Amino acid sequence: MRSVGAFACLVVLTFVFAPVAKGENVTGPAVLPMPTSLVLGEGALPIDSHFTTNYAGCGDPRMQGALQRLAQRVANETGLPIRAAKAASVQNATLSIECSIAGKLVPSLGEDESYRLEVTPRGAKLTARSGTGALRGLETFAQLVVAGPESFYAPSLQIEDRPRFAWRGLMLDTSRHWIAVPVLERNLDAMAAVKLNVLHWHFSDDQGFRVQSKRYPKLHELGSDGSFYTRDDVRHIVSYAAERGIRVVPEIDVPGHASAILAAYPQLGASSGPYHVANGWGIFSPTLDPTNPKVYEFLDALFAEMAQLFPDSYFHVGGDEVQSSEWDSNHAIAEFKRSHGMQSATADPAGNIALHAYFNRRIVNVLRKYGKTAVGWEEILQPDISDDVVVQSWSGPQTLAEATRRHHPGLLSFGYYLDYLQPAATYYAVDPQGGVAAQVNGGQPKLVLGGEACMWSEFANSETLDSRVWPAAAAIAERFWSASSVTDRESMYQRLGSLSRKLEWVSLRHRANYGPMLDRIAGGQAEPALRVLADALEPRGVEREFLRTYTPATPLNRLVDAARPESELVRRLEGAATTLLATPGDSAAYAELELTFRQWEGNDSRLTAVLSNNFLLEGLDKFSADLSRIGNSGLRALHYVKTNEPAPEGWLTDELKNLDALDARKSELTLAASRPLRILISRLKERAGPNIE
Ligand code: ACM
Repeated sequence: MRSVGAFACLVVLTFVFAPVAKGENVTGPAVLPMPTSLVLGEGALPIDSHFTTNYAGCGDPRMQGALQRLAQRVANETGLPIRAAKAASVQNATLSIECSIAGKLVPSLGEDESYRLEVTPRGAKLTARSGTGALRGLETFAQLVVAGPESFYAPSLQIEDRPRFAWRGLMLDTSRHWIAVPVLERNLDAMAAVKLNVLHWHFSDDQGFRVQSKRYPKLHELGSDGSFYTRDDVRHIVSYAAERGIRVVPEIDVPGHASAILAAYPQLGASSGPYHVANGWGIFSPTLDPTNPKVYEFLDALFAEMAQLFPDSYFHVGGDEVQSSEWDSNHAIAEFKRSHGMQSATADPAGNIALHAYFNRRIVNVLRKYGKTAVGWEEILQPDISDDVVVQSWSGPQTLAEATRRHHPGLLSFGYYLDYLQPAATYYAVDPQGGVAAQVNGGQPKLVLGGEACMWSEFANSETLDSRVWPAAAAIAERFWSASSVTDRESMYQRLGSLSRKLEWVSLRHRANYGPMLDRIAGGQAEPALRVLADALEPRGVEREFLRTYTPATPLNRLVDAARPESELVRRLEGAATTLLATPGDSAAYAELELTFRQWEGNDSRLTAVLSNNFLLEGLDKFSADLSRIGNSGLRALHYVKTNEPAPEGWLTDELKNLDALDARKSELTLAASRPLRILISRLKERAGPNIE
C-alpha cells in the first residue's frame, strides 16, 4: 500500500500573536485549523475553577457529554480543579451554547458544521445551527485557553467558521499492525480536536481481517493472529466517533489484498492456493475469483452483516493494486473473459481491467441493496462504474482529476501518506483541488469532497501510531477545513507547536511515549546523551521496508521507532540559522545555535559506552560521531558568520560534500542536524563568491 513518487494568504495572521489589548501582556490564540474569520477584541475572559457551561435549543443528546469533555479538557490544560459544572442558566454560564437543530446521532456527509463564537471579558457565547456545529465550536474554545499574567484566560474575539470540505478523513490501517481500542479512541479525540470528521477504518488486508464476523467467523479466527475487534468493539468505536461528530467508513479491500480472507475461505480464490495470512510487507497475489458466483454470495452476506455494524451510508471496497497473476493462470477465468468479450486489443489485452470492472459493478449493486454508496481506491475508476461511486486518489492528482471529469465525487490522499513521515509543511502544501483543474481538461474541482490523511501501519503499532500521525495530521486537517488562501507555513508551524502540546491533554501519546521509549532503549535508565542524539535524528518512512527484513512480529522498539518524524529542535535551529544570516547581530539566534552545536560536539564521547553495549543501538555509532562533527563544524561556521572573516574555500567545499554524503546514506534514520549547518555553509559559500569550486 505504498506509492513511491513525488509529492508535490489569508493574510499571514499577524494578529494571531498580537497583543490582545494595550497594556496587557497577553497574546492571541493559536487556533488550528484557522477559522474562516477571526477578529480579536479588547481584553480577555478569565478562566478559573468556577468555569461553567450551559446550553439551550440543541435537542442534541451529544451535548451533555461534549460539555463534560470540554470541562475535563480545560481542567487538564490548566490544572485547575474544574468540575463539570452546569450553570443555572445560559445567561450565568462562562460559556453558553445555543443551537437550533439537533445534530444526527449518526453523523452524515454534508451536515452543517458552521458555528460562531464570541468571547468577551464577561463570558463566551457559541451559536450554531446544528449540534455538530456546536461540537466544532467547543473544540475551538478549548484551544483558546492559555495562561496569562494573572490567570488563565481566553482572549476576547469573534470567530465565524465553517469547513471548506465536507469529507475530512484519517485512514487508519489496523490490519498490518493491530491497533488497540484505547488508541483508536484517543485518535478520535484528536481528530475531533482538529475538526476531522471521517475515520476510514482499513481493517481487512493481506496481513489480517480484524473485525469479528458472526456470519463468517473464520474471517477473524483464521484471517487474523487472534487480534481482532469484536462486534461490541466496533459498536463502541462507531458510537464514540458519532459522539464527536465523526463518521466511520469501513473498508473491506477486495478483490486484491485478500490473503487474510482467502486464508479463511480459500474456495473463493482465483487459484488453488494454498493461502495464508501474509507474514511480511509488500503486494501479494491472492485474489478473489470474480467469475465465481459464490464470491458474490459471500460478499452479499458479509456486506449485509457489516452494513448493520457500520451505519454510515458510505462503504469502502478497496480495489487497489489488484495483481493479475492468479487471474492470468486460471483457465476458467480466461474462458470467462473470452466469452464476455473482455479483452481489448490495446488498453487491456488480458481483459483484467474489464474483469475488475465487472466485479466492481456487481459489488456496487450489492452495497446499494443495503443502502450504501461505494468508495474505492482510484483503480475502481473503470468503464460503466456508476457515477455516485466515490474515487479515492492515492497515486497522483491526475486520477482525481480524471474521476471528477467522469462525474465521480473524489477524495485526495495522494500527498497525505503519513507513513512517509514527511514534514508537516510538505503535507500542508498539497491542496485537494490543487491539481484537479490543471491536470485534466474538464476536471471538476467542485466534485472534490475533500481528502484523507492515510496511515499505513507496516511500521506503526499501538505504542508508536500516535507519534507517526500527530501532529502532522493536524496540518492536513487545516488544509481540509480552512480557506485555500491559508497557506502560510510559519503561521501553521507556530500554531501546530501549541496544538501539539494541547493534544497531550486529549490523551494522545505522540509526545508522551518518546521519553519512556528512549529510557527503555538505554537499558531502563535516563540517558540524556541518547536524547540529544534522538532529537537530532529523523526516521525515514519510504525506504525503511527495503533496508531490513521485517515481519509483523518484528519489534518496533529501536531508535527509528522512537525518533519523531520531524525534529522540532532542528526546525527551530533552521529558523535560527536563517534569522542569523539575515540579521548577523541577532544574539538570541546566535546563542541558540552555539549552545546546541557545543552540545552536539561533545555528545559522542558521552554516548560511546552506551552505544557499544546495546543491541538496540547497533549501527548508531556513526550517527553519533557525525553529530559531533556537525557540532564542531557548526561552531566554526558561526565564527565566520560572526566575524565576517572569509571561510577557507576548501573547507566549505568539503563540508558540503560531507553533508551530501550524510544525506545520501542508506539508512532507516537520517541526521536532521545537517540541515541548519547546510544553511550556514551554503551562505558562507555564496558569500565567498563564484570562484570556489
Ligand atoms: C494504496 O496505497 N495502495 C491505496
